[in-house]
Amino acid sequence: MTVDFYAGAARRWADGATIVYGPIAHRLLDTSPHRLTGRTVLDAGSGTGVVSSALIELGARPVAADLSHDMLAWGARRRPPAVVADVARLPLRDDAVDDAVAAFVYNHLTEPGAALTEAARVTRAGGAVLACVYASSSRSEVRDALDDAARAVGWRAPYWYTHLKQTATPVLGDADKMAHAARQAGLVDVTADEESVDVGVEEPEQLVDYRLGQAHFASWLDALEPGKADEIRDRLVETIRPIMAPYRPTVVFLVARVH
Ligand SMILES: C[S@@+](CC[C@H](N)C(=O)[O-])C[C@H]1O[C@@H](n2cnc3c(N)ncnc32)[C@H](O)[C@@H]1O
Repeated sequence: MTVDFYAGAARRWADGATIVYGPIAHRLLDTSPHRLTGRTVLDAGSGTGVVSSALIELGARPVAADLSHDMLAWGARRRPPAVVADVARLPLRDDAVDDAVAAFVYNHLTEPGAALTEAARVTRAGGAVLACVYASSSRSEVRDALDDAARAVGWRAPYWYTHLKQTATPVLGDADKMAHAARQAGLVDVTADEESVDVGVEEPEQLVDYRLGQAHFASWLDALEPGKADEIRDRLVETIRPIMAPYRPTVVFLVARVH
């Protein structure tokens, strides 16, 4: 059985986490070796549709896939076609899409090679496979301080999250690992780079809203008494204000083609 760790996280993801994931989605699409306009593009691990929205802005036609029904259901009526599916076993025929994009989903997999192979299978020859994950080297003192402050008021990272961070996240956590996995999956013209991305987060309010919008805070926030989540949000903002610095996560970007 597959457990949906993102169940219940969609609203906060859309309202908060997108502050950071939105700019990174645009940066990821900027890496495409060709224009995406008019092309059918898989948004693998689409979540609430951050990449799909950026694709639509470019005039592409996204097809979304995600394990989480809840994340896909967010704004479903105004979203592109979507399917609840594992990115390592997509219910799509060979060569179904022109290109494939995967933002922050392969870092959930202990064996991401299977998902990269699957992206190559469903993408037409010559199509691009673009992916990104956080680099293992990504550091932020102010984000760590924010997490410490959340712990001080009762937050505990859920088991699934700490397990993911230990087992899956490091697998593609640098450019060499990402490039190696892509080549192993049969992709060609592979480049992988690590980049510190300016996501435009300069204010403590933005950083707190992004962080509390992530799935590993959702169940804790949901269990709080009415009004308490807002109170905690304000307290976290004031705690980090004196040490706030621009948030620039380091991201591994993969650009490759299907042979
Ligand atoms: C960190 S979120 C990223 C969402 C979106 N790509 C974005 O940039 O906002 C990861 C998403 O991947 C999904 N996911 C995790 N493992 C998956 C898998 N094996 N197959 C499909 N989706 C998966 C989760 O349900 C979640 O929606």
